[in-house]
Amino acid sequence: MQGYKTSKINNRRYLGNKYKLLPFISEIVAKECPGITSLADIFAGTGAVSSAFCDKLAIITNDLMYSNYICNYAWFGTESYSKKKIIDLIKRYNALESCKSNYMTQNFADTYFSKEDCSKIGYIRSDIERLFKQKFINERERAILITSLLYAMDKIAQTCGHYDAYRKGSSYDTALELYVPLAPKTNNKLNKCFNLDANQLVKDIYADLVYIDPPYNSRQYCDAYHLLENVARWQKPTVYGVAKKMDRSNIKSKYCTNQATKSFEDLIQSINAKYILLSYNNMSQKGNDRSNAKISDEDIMRILSAKGTVKIFSTEYKAFTTGKSDIEDNEERLFLCTCYPKGT
Ligand SMILES: C[S@@+](CC[C@H](N)C(=O)[O-])C[C@H]1O[C@@H](n2cnc3c(N)ncnc32)[C@H](O)[C@@H]1O
Repeated sequence: MQGYKTSKINNRRYLGNKYKLLPFISEIVAKECPGITSLADIFAGTGAVSSAFCDKLAIITNDLMYSNYICNYAWFGTESYSKKKIIDLIKRYNALESCKSNYMTQNFADTYFSKEDCSKIGYIRSDIERLFKQKFINERERAILITSLLYAMDKIAQTCGHYDAYRKGSSYDTALELYVPLAPKTNNKLNKCFNLDANQLVKDIYADLVYIDPPYNSRQYCDAYHLLENVARWQKPTVYGVAKKMDRSNIKSKYCTNQATKSFEDLIQSINAKYILLSYNNMSQKGNDRSNAKISDEDIMRILSAKGTVKIFSTEYKAFTTGKSDIEDNEERLFLCTCYPKGT
């Protein structure tokens, strides 16, 4: 018995993640984008799409949220790491009994997690930072350990997958257990991970294929995942309200606001690539206000057609709904733009 469990990149819940769509995306890229050697996944989220290509292409990942950057750095980073060190630490963390009072117990006891699990989460997160400051672990090892903690929190949180609210009066049956992330040891040496606004990043990078998967509607990811972001950053901010959110004003996405179309247009104009592949579903005006798509199909076509020739591919795909709106014919679409040569 090895005494620990392992996790893969898709072993977490994340709104709009494209794990189930990977066969569809891979097929289109294989058929329509011959000879590419690099991919930039600039709204990477979990990194699921990058994971489908990382054994063939050099990968650039990017996300506005630090918690996603950390996980992507764990999965796709090029720095070497000691698996033994990770396993030993995870075994030690899993053997912890209840720990002292800390930021997590003071702010989150018996909300999303039991008081005891909060004490462990707070202890473990501080310990990772201590080991990093002492240079006992490097940046990749730090990222792998934080990833393990975030995935473990996701498994037991008393939520329906996001942190807008917690289930009151929960019984907290499952205790925190960290798994060892099976992060590849030999990633492409040209991989790079960023934590920037995609509109800023594209001005400074080139990739043969740029994959774009922005938020579609007014649901801000920093609202849904504030607690994972809080623990990843570990700056111990004041939290407020029933959901105990921290200030998120500097990580709000323009793609969830009325500025979405303008931001998308600026983004596309600044991209330097052979191909642009956009995921955008057909929720516009079908669900409730909150789930309506922010960019219309007409605007998508107008903006992409100015950059190159556009083809659309679609598949039926079950949309996330809260159960309040019943959306039947939802489909996930891919817009492929073969860019005109620069300067034309
Ligand atoms: C639909 S999700 C991407 C899901 C991803 N393809 C996957 O499979 O997990 C959109 C992502 O865009 C990120 N995001 C929102 N606005 C952004 C921006 N301006 N720049 C970079 N990332 C942004 C969000 O944090 C979120 O993770």
